[in-house]
Amino acid sequence: METTFINQASKDVACDVLVVGAASAEAGQESSVFAPATREVDQALDGLLSSMYANGEFKGKVGETVQIYTFGKLAARRVLVVGLGAAEKIQLHTWRRVSGIAVRFAQSKGAHQVALALGETNANELQAIVEGALLGVYGFKKYKSAQNNGQKLEQLILVGHENRERQAALERGSAMAEAGNFARDLVNEQPAVLTPAELANRARAMAEQSGLECTIFEPAQLAEFGMGGLLAVGQGSAAPPRLILLRYRGAPESKEELALVGKGITFDTGGISIKPAAGMESMKGDMGGGAAVLGAMQIIAALKPRINVLALVPSAENMPDGAAYRPGDILRLMNGKTIEIVNTDAEGRLALSDALSYAVKEGCSPIIDIATLTGACVVALGGKRAGLFCNNDELRDQLMAAGEVTGEKFWPMPIDEEYQENIESHVADVRQNGGRMGGAINAAKVLEHFVGDAAWAHLDIAGTEFVEEKQPFMEKGATGFGARALAETVLRRAEGK
Ligand code: BES
Ligand code: MN
Ligand code: ZN
Repeated sequence: METTFINQASKDVACDVLVVGAASAEAGQESSVFAPATREVDQALDGLLSSMYANGEFKGKVGETVQIYTFGKLAARRVLVVGLGAAEKIQLHTWRRVSGIAVRFAQSKGAHQVALALGETNANELQAIVEGALLGVYGFKKYKSAQNNGQKLEQLILVGHENRERQAALERGSAMAEAGNFARDLVNEQPAVLTPAELANRARAMAEQSGLECTIFEPAQLAEFGMGGLLAVGQGSAAPPRLILLRYRGAPESKEELALVGKGITFDTGGISIKPAAGMESMKGDMGGGAAVLGAMQIIAALKPRINVLALVPSAENMPDGAAYRPGDILRLMNGKTIEIVNTDAEGRLALSDALSYAVKEGCSPIIDIATLTGACVVALGGKRAGLFCNNDELRDQLMAAGEVTGEKFWPMPIDEEYQENIESHVADVRQNGGRMGGAINAAKVLEHFVGDAAWAHLDIAGTEFVEEKQPFMEKGATGFGARALAETVLRRAEGK
């Protein structure tokens, strides 16, 4: 899709649908809430919008929409008014959502060219609007035989003046949304196709396009590294594991390197500790953390912050089989620690711990890992926020702030020393599973054994990876959660924020 600025009066912009925003209002103060662009449209329509407010036909609640045919009173064929909610409560994420709602609605009604009246929105708001629009029109349709009759949106027109700041905001928004959609494609892809080797292929293709360094490690190499965790998880599958490594060097003069580590389990059956059948199909998304890391790297490569970043995605398929690993097995991971297996369904922490050890060996700090790690985290936080476990106050604050800005929100969780007793083993250095109570924390405590002295954050996105029902601003399915927040965190650190 093509996105362009056009500096014209809204009423003169020729397009299928012109979108204007309108905040909510008390009866009686109706037209006072209209931004200039909306007022202009109201006048061109002989006060139709004002009268809709006055009659209570449109209240301006967040995401409320009304479509009006213009009968030649404007150059646009239709006007779509979208509610912004109470003016004083509009946040960046409101713009993102409202933009997504408007563009999705227009697309569902067969629009090819959609124009968004920007008014006086600032650069950050403009970025959010672009993101919302591009994330909103996304759909995963490659396996649908009959293309849905509503053709795809072809042109997004941003109505307003253009300057360098706004152009940069458009580029940032496009990079963020495209990478978010890249991550969604990976998560939505069927698990028979997206094996560890295929995930690696797609990572390499992205890296080549983006100018990132890329190395793919195969099992023999993983054995040399001593990655007993990642190898064990993959040993019951016909599709052998991979470790995907990408590197971005934006500050070659500096020795410091930040690491992003994403869980890349391409399908999680639970292994010998097999999962119940109901809902198992969603375990194709168990590489969502890895997808978020790859998406973040695509953004970083496009926006070029002055910082060094190492990305690692340990990838395997967790299958039951005669060769599969078992409960009772004791594995030695890359940093030399042994771990007693109690449940082969707690595979993510094994694959991650080897990758964390690799990042430590490379001298990285901070290290941020992201994973669809525990059902317990879904119970704790539901689908709106992801768990944030962190041993460093500054890093925690940065991730929290980045999450609020991108709308991929986190919530701090504890990793107190006391939880260590849940993962004491009689036969190994660490027990893999600390039981159901505090399950998300127990998992984080296992990971903590593999981060050395690095500043470290662990993001448990098990609950936020998919949306079960289609949202007005987003298609049902993969969310790409974390790609934008990770990139935002890296951008902020590069700017010393
Ligand atoms: N991939 C799952 C976690 C998960 C659950 C992700 C629901 C998305 C939605 C993970 O590998 C897993 O199976 N975790 C177990 C750990 C347990 C056996 C200690 C869990 O949460 O039940
Ligand atoms: Mn599992
Ligand atoms: Zn898993």
